[in-house]
Amino acid sequence: MTGQGLQDFLRDYEAAHPHDVCTVDREVSLDQDISAAVWELAERGQHPLLRFPRVAGADREVVTNLFASRPRIERMLGAEPGELHETYQRRAAAAMPMSEVDDGPVGDRVDTGDRVDLRSLPLLTHFATDLGPYITSGIVVAEDSDTGRGNLSYHRSVVASATSLGTSLHSRGDLWRLLQDAAAGGRRLPVAMVIGAHPLFMLAASARVGFGVDEREIAGGLLGEPLEVVRTPTHGLRVPASAEVVLEGEIDPAADEDEGPFGEFSGYSSDRSTRNRIDVCTVMQRSGAVWLDVVGGNSHEHLNLGRVPREAEMIAKLKDRFGSVVAVHYPQSGTHFHCYVAVDQRRPGEARQALLGLLGWDPYLKTVVAVDADVDVTSDSEVLWALATHFQPGRDMMVVDGLPGSALDPSADKLGTTSRLALDATRGEGFDAQRIKISAAARTVGREIAIDALADPAG
Ligand SMILES: Cc1cc2nc3c(=O)[nH]c(=O)nc-3n(C[C@H](O)[C@H](O)[C@H](O)COP(=O)(O)O)c2cc1C
Repeated sequence: MTGQGLQDFLRDYEAAHPHDVCTVDREVSLDQDISAAVWELAERGQHPLLRFPRVAGADREVVTNLFASRPRIERMLGAEPGELHETYQRRAAAAMPMSEVDDGPVGDRVDTGDRVDLRSLPLLTHFATDLGPYITSGIVVAEDSDTGRGNLSYHRSVVASATSLGTSLHSRGDLWRLLQDAAAGGRRLPVAMVIGAHPLFMLAASARVGFGVDEREIAGGLLGEPLEVVRTPTHGLRVPASAEVVLEGEIDPAADEDEGPFGEFSGYSSDRSTRNRIDVCTVMQRSGAVWLDVVGGNSHEHLNLGRVPREAEMIAKLKDRFGSVVAVHYPQSGTHFHCYVAVDQRRPGEARQALLGLLGWDPYLKTVVAVDADVDVTSDSEVLWALATHFQPGRDMMVVDGLPGSALDPSADKLGTTSRLALDATRGEGFDAQRIKISAAARTVGREIAIDALADPAG
């Protein structure tokens, strides 16, 4: 590790993997150009880390698409190919206390009082359907006033005035709980928003962990060394010493602010929002800061960042508890709502046990499908083939109603209360159809023909 800052990571990563980083030399606007580039590249199967040094109206470089590729996330964690989830779990489990330092680069410039102007930040508009420009990579740090234990979570935020942001706590996680506690005590909740930090800090921030588990310590586990933190000037919240930008302020539980619509991970524009307001009293920035953006909607980056820690936890839990589980995959097509699981079933019903485990543990999942071990769960079309040929709706389907889910599922009610569906597409007992086969010898001939034909398509 040669530094805990985003720019340390960018420098080292670009030196080691220059072909996975694309610097766009032409000038782009803050209005949708960057989302459009991410979308057009993804449609061509490309997910490079993107750097935009020339953005009209921005006083600094914009960096995005950091988490759009799973191989890149593997490299961030130093994982072998295909060992993303195991590596994440192992390193997250090695959580370690933070190391508080007196100062760090984030304190290079500190603006307070009349010098705070959030409108000077280079916020991007991501979709034509958004309310306006948004902060999309903002990680809110809050601390329990009794224990000092911290919480990290992402909250989309729109600039409402020079010193205030509209934000949403719709996922009703631990920040929501801390805000309820503050409201009950008649207090405002001090918060800090980190915009641009080491990608492993960002991964830790997306983990859904128990109340009181401090994700800053998980960040230390992922980094392999204690996270270096400094205290914010007014409220003394501990934030990464090498962050690009930190906004410090308070949420008044009684205040209300316009927020949304915003392009969400479901692929829909959502105005479901808790409409909270953050009043900002301090802006901290390192000199030469870059602006880190996460393109929202159902982009690869938004989905990967949101779910890699959750997938890792679910896969570990599932394999640990159910010995028949051999593979688990959350398909891109299902946003956060679908999961496929392959089982090597030794007793009837084992696949169903695994399906019910998943539906109970993962708060976002809505439809889960079990297949046999020979079906490739990373392929939507193989799973749909198994469903087409092994599954009988009257026999193999389980529906559970009235569970808490995601408020951003447009088919659920506004709180996200949802039904969940388990589909058992394993062959099961008594299934006697034979899968078609081609002999190994013929496959060799076929392969040679295919290679020739592709090398000389006209011939
Ligand atoms: C890129 C990204 C953006 C997110 N935006 C929001 C948001 O605007 N509001 C929200 O309530 N949750 C949002 N989330 C989800 C929370 O950050 C996530 O559920 C968090 O881990 C909750 O953790 P907690 O239970 O520790 O508070 C977002 C997640 C990611 C990865």
